[in-house]
Amino acid sequence: MTLHWLKALAFLAILVALAVGTTAPVTADSGLSKQVTRRITLMTTQKAAMDVLTSMMAGRTAFDRDTAQTARRQLIKTTGSIRKRFKKHRMDPRTNARPQIWTAWDDFKARAETTRAAARDLNTWSLPGLRRTLPSLMQSCLSCHKTYRRAPNSFITH
Ligand code: HEC
Repeated sequence: MTLHWLKALAFLAILVALAVGTTAPVTADSGLSKQVTRRITLMTTQKAAMDVLTSMMAGRTAFDRDTAQTARRQLIKTTGSIRKRFKKHRMDPRTNARPQIWTAWDDFKARAETTRAAARDLNTWSLPGLRRTLPSLMQSCLSCHKTYRRAPNSFITH
């Protein structure tokens, strides 16, 4: 019993440390931009939703209609916020965004819109439907990254 509590406490301490580690640097005078944080968070959120779907598509997880529909809704929402999250030209040491975003803003916006349309067109009713419609969404993510994101880290696959 006591041991369990100690373990739980140690775990909590780690969680608190992690939380502090990720939020502390984002202060006004740290040189890190709130806008950059938000757009990176948006992108990682949509990657998480994509991972749910690609893993069903690949058969690593069983197809589940509700889970797939939730992921689709998330993707419609996140792709719909791309424009807003990138509107201000902000850079900081973490960013991989290319400055061309803000000189070719109309094209960037159009790509965000195409990606949102592809998210809407996702068929989450069946596995064959998902397999048919997911590739074009993946393609839209990739194609924007190719133009507007600097050499992605090797551990990010798209
Ligand atoms: C309209 C352009 C555009 C579209 C569409 C787009 N992205 Fe991005 N994405 C970017 C840019 C630009 C960055 C770099 C942002 C930065 O570092 O400030 C980025 C960064 C990322 C990152 C890295 C975040 C990090 O940790 O640094 C991931 C993951 C990502 N995108 C996933 C996706 C997924 C999944 C999709 C499709 C559902 C997608 N993106 C669609 C432009 C786009």
